[in-house]
Amino acid sequence: MTTVDTVRSKHDNGLGFFAWSHNQNQVWKGSLDCISFEQGAIKDKLLALNKPCYIVKVAGKIGVTNDGYLSPLDQNTTATVELLLSVPPLRIQQLGDPNFLTFHGVKYAYVTGAMAGGIASEEMVIALGKEQILSSFGAGGLSPDRLESAINQIQQALPNGPYAFNLIHSPNEPAIERRAVDLYLKYQVRTVEASAFLDLTANIVYYRAAGLSLNASNQIEIKNKVIAKISRREVATKFLQPAPARILKELVEQGLISELQATLAAKVPMADDITVEADSGGHTDNRPLVCLLPSIIALRDEIQAQYHYEKPIRIGVAGGIGTPHSALAAFMMGAAYIMTGSINQSCVESGACEYTKKLLAQAEMADMMMAPAADMFEMGVKLQVLKRGTMFPMRAQKLYELYRAYDSIEDIPLAEREKLEKQVFRKTIAEVWEGTAAYLSQKNPEKLGKAVNNPKLKMAVIFRWYLGLSSRWSSTGEKGREVDYQIWCGPAMGGFNDWVRGSYLSEQNNRHVVDVAYQIMTGAAFLYRIQSLKIQGLQMSDYYSQYHPVHTANFSGLI
Ligand SMILES: Cc1cc2nc3c(=O)[nH]c(=O)nc-3n(C[C@H](O)[C@H](O)[C@H](O)COP(=O)(O)O)c2cc1C
Repeated sequence: MTTVDTVRSKHDNGLGFFAWSHNQNQVWKGSLDCISFEQGAIKDKLLALNKPCYIVKVAGKIGVTNDGYLSPLDQNTTATVELLLSVPPLRIQQLGDPNFLTFHGVKYAYVTGAMAGGIASEEMVIALGKEQILSSFGAGGLSPDRLESAINQIQQALPNGPYAFNLIHSPNEPAIERRAVDLYLKYQVRTVEASAFLDLTANIVYYRAAGLSLNASNQIEIKNKVIAKISRREVATKFLQPAPARILKELVEQGLISELQATLAAKVPMADDITVEADSGGHTDNRPLVCLLPSIIALRDEIQAQYHYEKPIRIGVAGGIGTPHSALAAFMMGAAYIMTGSINQSCVESGACEYTKKLLAQAEMADMMMAPAADMFEMGVKLQVLKRGTMFPMRAQKLYELYRAYDSIEDIPLAEREKLEKQVFRKTIAEVWEGTAAYLSQKNPEKLGKAVNNPKLKMAVIFRWYLGLSSRWSSTGEKGREVDYQIWCGPAMGGFNDWVRGSYLSEQNNRHVVDVAYQIMTGAAFLYRIQSLKIQGLQMSDYYSQYHPVHTANFSGLI
């Protein structure tokens, strides 16, 4: 271990690279030939993360090497090379919580979050899973048949994982949530990403408890892992605690879980991991990560002190992660893992159409805005979408304003209605209602009955036709409807585009999810190295501290 001397002397190599001398209780030993003094070569040495990095001074010049070794200073040593600073090797597996890696059987503390409607596609989950990176399939909004087919395809490609499936809370349609749980239990899907929960439901408790048993050593075995995505302390609390006794009792009474499972469920938390979601694409509370993460970590600590779980719950982060810098910031704040979302939608493997990916690749930080959400339209819930290149957010906002201002479609002034029919729906309101009624008569006759007798609800149902379809148009690439594409996206996309500008990743056809994950994690490890050198007193120009993605044909197993 070297320590920074209180009285330091400055060394300058003339390349914008200054270092402060260390308290020298060690010397560097090795061949002078392996020391680099030239800019490009120095950068390469800093980038060699799997090797240590020694900053040395030879004949008044500062150089960098990855070779040689440190040895204790003894009286007889007369070193021609002065050791200024050193940093150890840094593998990207070292970022985050090592327990996350073992628990999920993954290589990196990096996860890709679910994106509804299969935008987080089978292809995406499989590509990442093959590299031992956890990815959550976007089950939200898909039919049970489509979900079942995704489970089959993913399990066939990844018989030993890793993969996760999204279990999204459906407040209005609990049957949908239940059907997903039934499929996950039937096919032994062992990891779910639970999201949009405001409170625990019997469905998520059923999934968790049904996977509990005692092993031969009488220890609780958790087969069904839960990663809960939250943005509020109240909801985090529910997942940090064991399942409520009331729900467990009901499940036992219904014969869905055993008495033993109910007893075990009272001893383990509802989730193994909590993803704290800050300002993200899609549904978001727009909270800043720097405020939210410490608060949830403190909450976890409080609850851990109360329950003394054998395996403490890990806290990861999502929302705004799109660069090595944001990834490193999250790890340095104590995140056990990072989750990305928006940036993956622009990748080759995403279920979004080409046109959408192109818009995403051009997006800048300020090109996003909050727009009314289809699922909770009447409640005024909003989600974060792309505004550049699409009229969706403005049109959806207009629909919400009309909904607020009038009690029925008929109350809306004729001129406004005509505008809606011509510009937004491109159909008459009567035609939209006819189509919607036909759909609801199949899917939700009860709702149809209510809408027929409630003009305000009927208006909401008509407006939601547009809000629902606009997401699908962005996935299927509906021609002629480009201006109406609803594209969920957060500022992370703009951050990513800024970072990759001028590199091969600026072209969306080069964006592969595995590569993006690798570049972000490698960049984060590199920036960590740079920051630790800076903290020790090394001053360097921007040239050395920037990490630009460089195409690596086959990075698998490199680091
Ligand atoms: C297009 C899109 C669809 C999403 N759909 C879902 C979803 O169905 N379920 C879910 O839990 N999260 C969903 N998310 C959130 C992501 O899983 C992830 O948590 C979030 O995007 C991370 O923040 P970021 O967008 O800033 O990277 C979605 C995000 C996007 C961009």
